[in-house]
Amino acid sequence: MAKGSFEASAPGKVILLGEHFVVFGKPALVMALDRRARVRVKLLELQADNIKVHSLNIPNASPAELQPIKEAAIKAMEFLGLRKGLEITVNSDIPISAGLGSSAAVSVATIAAVGGLFGVRFTKEDLCRLALEAERLVHKNPSGIDPTIATYGGILLFEKGKPPEPVKLDLDFQLIIGNTGIARSTGEMVAKVGLLQLYYPEIFESLLEGAHRLVLEALEALRASDLEGLGRLFNVNHGLLSAIGVSDISLERLVYAARAAGAFGAKLTGGGGGGCMIALAEAGRLDQVVQAIRKAGGEAFIAAPSERGVMLEA
Ligand code: MEV
Repeated sequence: MAKGSFEASAPGKVILLGEHFVVFGKPALVMALDRRARVRVKLLELQADNIKVHSLNIPNASPAELQPIKEAAIKAMEFLGLRKGLEITVNSDIPISAGLGSSAAVSVATIAAVGGLFGVRFTKEDLCRLALEAERLVHKNPSGIDPTIATYGGILLFEKGKPPEPVKLDLDFQLIIGNTGIARSTGEMVAKVGLLQLYYPEIFESLLEGAHRLVLEALEALRASDLEGLGRLFNVNHGLLSAIGVSDISLERLVYAARAAGAFGAKLTGGGGGGCMIALAEAGRLDQVVQAIRKAGGEAFIAAPSERGVMLEA
């Protein structure tokens, strides 16, 4: 039996290494952020079929921007064999359309909250699958990495179609996130990379192999608490992402500013074409890197990994 309303939350993410190549079946390392999307779902008793969505972060959102949230709620209700009226309110501190997993975090939290409203706690597998089905309606060929990290939290070694592998570390670390402020569509960037594979399959294959090796090396560096080595691998990964055409001048400015300020390494994160970059630096230099990114025209903040995946807030 449904009670009046229910809230759930889920984290944003940064891909440490392996974005785009993950769509082609290669592994990627992804980390949940200490920034979350909160979604409250309220039953509209007398309005079956009517789903109203408000975002406190985008007060003038167009119906198209809110559609993916509706789709997530519909997927959850279809799974439960229900069709009810709902009012959904989103409140998130994850920057939007920036490659930080905001839409997957909102979808996962929406599905969990709809389940909670009707007294059902979805398994993590079901949550991820339903969020991925909703994501497919917007971005046609997603790997599933975004809903997976929003569901599980922590740091994961992710490979499409396989259960994610949690990566446990002895290390407390922070990284710097720089936002170009340029919104982009992940779906369009993924489609552009797909064309490159069609034009140059052999070159593309060797880039995929390089990306695979990089992620395995990065996993070793992380496990050995070797942030300097991980930073070097960020630089190489950024080079591969430039090679497949997903960097742009706004990202290059921030990446080079971070490196010039003494970061161990810097790379774009997520879909690219704008959006965000990440940098690693020794603890005493984090602020310096933040300032350098701001001076180069980006917004910047320091972020830490979060163990918390999706949470029911009741
Ligand atoms: C988006 O966060 C990551 C991409 O690899 C797309 C995907 O995996 O679905 C660019």
